[in-house]
Amino acid sequence: MKENKVYLTRMIPEKAVRYLEEYCSVEVNPDDRPLRREELIEKVKGMHAVLTMLNDGVDATLLDAAGPQCRIFANYAVGYNNIDIPAATKRGVFISNTPDVLRDATADLAWALMLAAARRITEGDSLMRSGAFTGWAPLFMLGVEVTGKILGIIGAGRIGQAVAQRGTGFGMKILYTANSSKQDFENKTGARRVGIDELLSQSDFISIHTPLTPATHHLIGQREFGMMKKTAILVNTARGPVVDEKALAEALRTGSIRGAGIDVYEREPEVEKGLLGLSNIVLCPHLGSATLDTRENMGLMAAENILAALRGEIPPQCLNPEAAE
Ligand code: DGY
Repeated sequence: MKENKVYLTRMIPEKAVRYLEEYCSVEVNPDDRPLRREELIEKVKGMHAVLTMLNDGVDATLLDAAGPQCRIFANYAVGYNNIDIPAATKRGVFISNTPDVLRDATADLAWALMLAAARRITEGDSLMRSGAFTGWAPLFMLGVEVTGKILGIIGAGRIGQAVAQRGTGFGMKILYTANSSKQDFENKTGARRVGIDELLSQSDFISIHTPLTPATHHLIGQREFGMMKKTAILVNTARGPVVDEKALAEALRTGSIRGAGIDVYEREPEVEKGLLGLSNIVLCPHLGSATLDTRENMGLMAAENILAALRGEIPPQCLNPEAAE
């Protein structure tokens, strides 16, 4: 197995790198930046496995550059909208992702954003640092109550369900959208599956957990903001292009919704300029899975997928088992 060459497009926590090194010859991008397209194409040549990031575009050109000996591209993310899966399948290359291990970290961050937006935490922090706090006052910096409100979950997969579960601790009523009903989830949380329009118009807090696909691109835009309550708070920890950022900036600027907590962006790492001057949005730099425990576990999971593919097995988190045929 040691003859197998594995390329990591970014440094990941050491534990996972050491684990891979026990079995393979590992090369890691030494620079703390994403590789440019031409560098990536050069680096994957002759590799048996490649561990990619969510901002590495994996398409036919890259797969062909890797060569026919390559068995797997293991994505260091649960989302895989950066990968052309049919192109990989056609070439007999497995694609894997890292589900489950980042569920709680991402759900926690969605909650951090929700609470921060509802209780104006970042506004308060800036005010304190500027020395503008003159003392407690009855009408000073009023936010909105979270407890007992309606939480709308767009996309009740693993992360969406974990966010909803936390909501029950706040006595919230849960509405959700999903392709099919989730009986277990409904039994545990009392959640009710509704159409998206009902969710948008009824919810006090709306949290997005749907993958980015052609069908979910700009799922939330001007029409949808128009349907939300004026007091609604929108949270997005899924993928930026699910929300039309210009429409979001307009909705926040005009008070069509009350606030937002955003971790992902349409043209990451760029941010829509119109959002930057607004005080009713909390902005985070794509930190959903950013805890050391989670990033280590993502690395170990990606490594297990790579090792399985190199042994000639279908990887445990394989997204295209038909690539084996
Ligand atoms: C994912 O895994 O898709 C996350 O966005 C990474 O934090």
